[in-house]
Amino acid sequence: MSTDAEQSLADFFFPEDNGVLQAPEAFSHWVERNRWATSMFEPAMLGAVGPEVELKRGDIHRRVINLSSYNYMGLATHPEVIEAGRQALLEYGTGACGSPLLSGKMGLHVELEKKLAEFTGREDAMLFNSGFGGGMGSLAALLRKGDAAVVDEKCHLCLLDGVKLSKAKLVFFRHNDPESLDEALKATEGRRRLVVVEGVYSMDGDMAALDKLLPVAEQHKVGMFIDEAHSILCFGENGRGVIEHFGVADRIGLQFATFSKSFASCGGYTAGSKRLLDYMRFYSNAYGFSCALPPATVGGLLKALEVATRDDTLRKKLWQNVGYFRERALSLGLNLGESVSQVFPIIIGSDRQALYELCREMNEKGLFLAPVDYPSVPEDGLRYRVAITAAHGREDLDRALNILEDTVVRRIVRGN
Ligand SMILES: Cc1ncc(COP(=O)(O)O)c(C=O)c1O
Repeated sequence: MSTDAEQSLADFFFPEDNGVLQAPEAFSHWVERNRWATSMFEPAMLGAVGPEVELKRGDIHRRVINLSSYNYMGLATHPEVIEAGRQALLEYGTGACGSPLLSGKMGLHVELEKKLAEFTGREDAMLFNSGFGGGMGSLAALLRKGDAAVVDEKCHLCLLDGVKLSKAKLVFFRHNDPESLDEALKATEGRRRLVVVEGVYSMDGDMAALDKLLPVAEQHKVGMFIDEAHSILCFGENGRGVIEHFGVADRIGLQFATFSKSFASCGGYTAGSKRLLDYMRFYSNAYGFSCALPPATVGGLLKALEVATRDDTLRKKLWQNVGYFRERALSLGLNLGESVSQVFPIIIGSDRQALYELCREMNEKGLFLAPVDYPSVPEDGLRYRVAITAAHGREDLDRALNILEDTVVRRIVRGN
């Protein structure tokens, strides 16, 4: 970013000055000097999440192709889902007004838990009012001081925060590396342990190598927790996620997923055995001490689950779109990393100035792609993240590809 291009958010985590309730001075100056770049974050969408969206950045409004929302199944604007949410709102009012343990659980919540248990093929499912809270709250409910969580190094922050909260020992293994997992499990022998992975890792779009990792965990007789935030409804013959894709559902202790991606809503759930979930409901503070999901959300979720699983129309459309976009993007010379999914990076390297300038240029030409900067990704792996959905039409994808050719391909691939 101009003369500050060598600085990143990582430089301001430990402030050198000021009290706790004051932003570090260096940070505030840096943000001010780089408004042109930081304004690429937190744009305001002036309508529903769809293949196209009207964005407001500062005073400028623009209609842009949206490749930045995780609306993988396109359900955010599905008429049946919206109508179901509306009906639930009319019937049940605006809020659950209490935690599920004490007063916030309605018939709708019970029905969604039941439907999710059926869908995942498990005895029970529990709902969380946030995906982040659900991942964090599930692990914090299970792990204790003295235990060890053996976690893939690319796992989401909510899972790391859950382990930290529990005070269990946090041990990383190299991403998708069975030998590294084996070493970590050997090093933690004698403790109660849990292996933690994701279905699809959203920064890279690759899948958990369950075929290699699961046998190692089983050899050590250690159970596995999987976060399928980005894979539920997308992967597996019936949309049951990466564990269905690999045919290993019955070998995974707990499956967690969020509602914020394919379900196009908010919240999350953990599915597992009834006995374990009976226990977790009392020991997950994010569950027991936080208001239950609003009824309109739950009504919409029930319909979203039905629409996405009554046949494979949406999943098929999604994968057709993914195949089309990937093939054309690769033929343009774009670096899509290791992705095998509907979410993938366009890696541009370490040029931070280019990352933000191109982001602005794409926005001006009509494409919404967010920059992903260090420390979220390695310093030499700055990128944009593309999310393809079933709602995109060929013309949306073609327009996005033309803009990419005119911007990222021109500057990064062709060097002019
Ligand atoms: C793997 C993973 N888990 C959990 C979350 C948190 O979900 P939410 O955004 O629904 O709070 C995310 C969000 O990006 C995620 O990618």
